Amino acid sequence: MSKAAAVLAALSASAAAVKPIHSHNDYTRETPLMTALDLGIVSVEADIWWRDEKLLVGHTLFDLDDSKTLDSLYIQPILAIINGSMESPTTISKDSQLQLLIDFKTDGGDTYQPLIDALEPLRTGGYLTTYTGGALQQGAVTVVGTGNTPLESVVAADPRDFFYDANILSLYSTKPADGQEWGPEIAPLASCDYSKVSGVGDDQMKELVQGAHDFNIKTRFWNTDDNTDTWNKFWDAGSDWVNADDLAGISEAWDARSA
Ligand SMILES: *[C@@H]1O[C@H](CO)[C@@H](O)[C@H](O)[C@H]1NC(C)=O
Repeated sequence: MSKAAAVLAALSASAAAVKPIHSHNDYTRETPLMTALDLGIVSVEADIWWRDEKLLVGHTLFDLDDSKTLDSLYIQPILAIINGSMESPTTISKDSQLQLLIDFKTDGGDTYQPLIDALEPLRTGGYLTTYTGGALQQGAVTVVGTGNTPLESVVAADPRDFFYDANILSLYSTKPADGQEWGPEIAPLASCDYSKVSGVGDDQMKELVQGAHDFNIKTRFWNTDDNTDTWNKFWDAGSDWVNADDLAGISEAWDARSA
């Protein structure tokens, strides 16, 4: 390849759309975060537990290990990739953003402040997407809480740099708080337990996605099977993110589809 062709190829690769893939239970991979980034996947999820004054990452109580904290598995590696001390084929910057989904496994009230504190190095660096003064400023990293995340604490935060994973199915029937509307300044993401809608047809799937998009909110389906037919169903519906545990499999399916 000539030098000019190589530059053009690199430019078009960097301009490529974000892969609509979300790394579910990301911390269970051999190298959390990096397995996803190696495949160009920029949405990852960590389950957190507030135990013994530490924010531990793991799937169940039995998997917890004092050395596996949110800081050691995610915050420090993210900082190292941003500052260039750790190599990654996918960079993390304002132009190449990472979505970090945090699934609260322990009580929302107990876990909220430790999580906010744990984000401090990213906050100090100016890397967090932040809502302040009525404006949403995109940062290199958008942190979204799911599971037991307390909505009222997210809504009350000002400035706000930790967001909420809303429920696709209740965007039209609920409000985040009195006098407030759902939108990306509270919930950049809304999710849906697929088992609750698995009987719906393709058109209704599209409507679910479009319904969230009408609020400028991106969508994710969870509790799904890891196979190409299922993934295609969500991509056909236009979902921004599709949950997967089999990252290699879904990457191949996406590459085949978008080739
Ligand atoms: C980059 O960030 C990592 C993680 O916080 C840190 O250990 C390292 O010292 C930083 N390196 C530079 C060059 O700033």
